[in-house]
Amino acid sequence: MDRMTQAAAIHDEIRALAAERDAVIIAHNYQRPEVQDVADFVGDSLGLARQAAATDASVIVFAGVHFMAETAKILSPDKTVLMPEPRAGCPMADMLTGEQLAAWREGHPGVPVVTYVNSSAEVKALSDICCTSANAVEVVRSLRADRILFGPDKNLAAWVGSQLPGVEVIAWDGWCPTHEDVTVEQVREAAARHPSAEIVAHPECRPEVCAMATAVLSTSQMLRWAESSPAEEFIVVTEEGLLHGLAKAAPGKRFVNLTPRMLCPNMKVTTIEKVRDSLAGMRTAIEVDAEVARRALGAVERMVAVG
Ligand code: 13P
Ligand code: SF4
Repeated sequence: MDRMTQAAAIHDEIRALAAERDAVIIAHNYQRPEVQDVADFVGDSLGLARQAAATDASVIVFAGVHFMAETAKILSPDKTVLMPEPRAGCPMADMLTGEQLAAWREGHPGVPVVTYVNSSAEVKALSDICCTSANAVEVVRSLRADRILFGPDKNLAAWVGSQLPGVEVIAWDGWCPTHEDVTVEQVREAAARHPSAEIVAHPECRPEVCAMATAVLSTSQMLRWAESSPAEEFIVVTEEGLLHGLAKAAPGKRFVNLTPRMLCPNMKVTTIEKVRDSLAGMRTAIEVDAEVARRALGAVERMVAVG
């Protein structure tokens, strides 16, 4: 059996298992194409959190990274949340621990803490509100504060600060290894090769890279942008998994992958075989300490409600 036929057979097996288990499969925009294609919903962190909160299914299979499945469990504590590959983490989320946040907070009494959803449940439990790349600016605006603490992503913090000049954004020193690597020179070279292309960049990129973009957007916002923009060509400054969704959202338009190194290894460890095995064996269930989940829920619910 060639790979395509094999993948199609596994796809059918997964859909049958999902029906049997009363499961919904949700996948992030950076997942492998065949994992995206077998999912019920594909989206950005905000969209997937909303799907996890709204689903009637009793099982959620989360094809993404650990903080995303943990967020789903916080929002739906009575549901079984399965990760086909529980070792899929996010290095940025590990750059701020609960202990570090508690100390940082204590050093800034009265200053609201806004936490990027790319963080652990412990960190969320110590936060006033969470945000994603899709609604970070709106979340901070909603606080009507003139100073905030923002972690763990210094680049998203800088983007928010640039959009809200009246707000002092005090940033934690965390970053995404995949987006932090992008340089101004790479974008400049791509723009020289594709002079009529629009540049769409994720706000996890450095400020000088964001400053070159036509638009700074979350992954799902990029899909909508590509669909509705009159441009025919786009330089895509985010993880390469999005190219699959872009080709589907705007067939006929051209998408330039900035560099073949724009890859998040954690997003790629989930395969369709693992999705099938996860459903067949009902593993691996993600658990969050009940007290931590209870304290994190408010910050996550406030995030889901904004934007
Ligand atoms: P989005 O919420 O924009 O999909 O981003 C998630 C992420 O991890 C980006 O690296
Ligand atoms: Fe984390 Fe970056 Fe991977 Fe997103 S792309 S999951 S921020 S390491």
